[in-house]
Amino acid sequence: MKTYHIRTVRGGSSLQGIIKVPGDKSISHRSLIIGSIAEGETNIEGFLYSEDPLSTADCLRKLGVCIPDIKEGQPFTIKGLGLDGFKEPKEILNCGNSGTTMRLLIGLLAGQKGKNFVLTGDNSLNERPMGRVSKPLSQMGGGIYGRENGTKAPISITGNKLKGCVIGTPVASAQVKSAILLAGLNASGTTSVIEPASSRDHTERMLKAFGADIKIRGELGRNIVIKSGTNLKGQNILIPGDISSAAFWMIAASIVPKSEIVVENVGLNPTRTGILNVMDEMGCDYKILKKSTIAGEPLGTINIKYVSNLKPFKIEGDILPKLIDEIPILTVAACFCNGISEIKDAKELRVKETDRLKVMARQLKKFGANILENEDGLIITGGSKFNSAEVDSETDHRVSMSLAIAALLAKGSTNIKRAEASKVSYPTFWDDLEKLIN
Ligand code: S3P
Repeated sequence: MKTYHIRTVRGGSSLQGIIKVPGDKSISHRSLIIGSIAEGETNIEGFLYSEDPLSTADCLRKLGVCIPDIKEGQPFTIKGLGLDGFKEPKEILNCGNSGTTMRLLIGLLAGQKGKNFVLTGDNSLNERPMGRVSKPLSQMGGGIYGRENGTKAPISITGNKLKGCVIGTPVASAQVKSAILLAGLNASGTTSVIEPASSRDHTERMLKAFGADIKIRGELGRNIVIKSGTNLKGQNILIPGDISSAAFWMIAASIVPKSEIVVENVGLNPTRTGILNVMDEMGCDYKILKKSTIAGEPLGTINIKYVSNLKPFKIEGDILPKLIDEIPILTVAACFCNGISEIKDAKELRVKETDRLKVMARQLKKFGANILENEDGLIITGGSKFNSAEVDSETDHRVSMSLAIAALLAKGSTNIKRAEASKVSYPTFWDDLEKLIN
């Protein structure tokens, strides 16, 4: 039986110090997946040693990829099998809580001719929408079956010869785009994906670095075209820190009085930095130092200081995919802005690890927050005084960490139930919080 942990956070302390956040989750998954279909060795440094990417490693091992026992903080080497070298596994592939693992693997395996695969996940993942990948992949000739007409896991895949297609995705989702591009590597001819707005582009950057024939076209790079027939070559990958993990400290330093935090090694890929635009709108005091580029991904160090009188903000439209994982912590930020903030066009939040609009509203109200939940977003009136509360992550990693930051601003001690959910993306979060508390 799973054991649940309660963490207690005392309000009233400020945060001071230097933090190096763990590796980017999206890039960590992709380093394993793309490395596994390349020829030769891929060396990986800065990998995120947390539950989600470890689920990807576990599934790939079952598919015959030689991945060593990964140790926290240690570089490692994997040996790729080429584009169609996976073996048919004897076991079910368990993707745990990880949507990225399941959706990218469905794309990867759909074109493994004559082999069969079964994928499952935890209770949360098995309720998340998979039709968004099974539908376009079926259009390419994929044999993807599952509960509720192929839209929910457990999913079974019969690898087929795929044909290249032009696919317009109804949602701006990097997981959907990546699944189609990975399938395109094993399809005949050319596969083209057109997104309604640009989502994170780590797959495109990494495929290009591994030698794939991939082109970014169209207005704002929303059309990605991949041609099959080119073998990928193993590479050296250095993974920057995850801006989605850094976000907790960027917001904490901005809203907790007398705080100043330096976050080192933060990935600054422009498809991920929507939070900086919102922080600009809020009037946050931050500086980006030591900018550089590693393995095709920009990064820098961010220095953030508390400011009083933060301004409210509005999030809507095409910026959503650029800050999709930061909505929970930005909801906390809005509670401490001077006025009414609004988050719109954010229906996607309802199909994340939890329904993050509902869960954040429900949990923050326990502190005394003034939040109105709409069908596609939230309206948050800042300035309520937070009292200590008994809150619950409801098993969502980003909710757990957002509630911890909110608790710093509450009067008294707050208990956070199921706080261990943070292990999905940031296993050292609670140690880092302790280090920063003054
Ligand atoms: C991810 C894409 C996003 C994001 C998730 C990671 C990825 O999901 O929310 O945490 O690595 O591709 P969607 O593609 O569903 O928006």
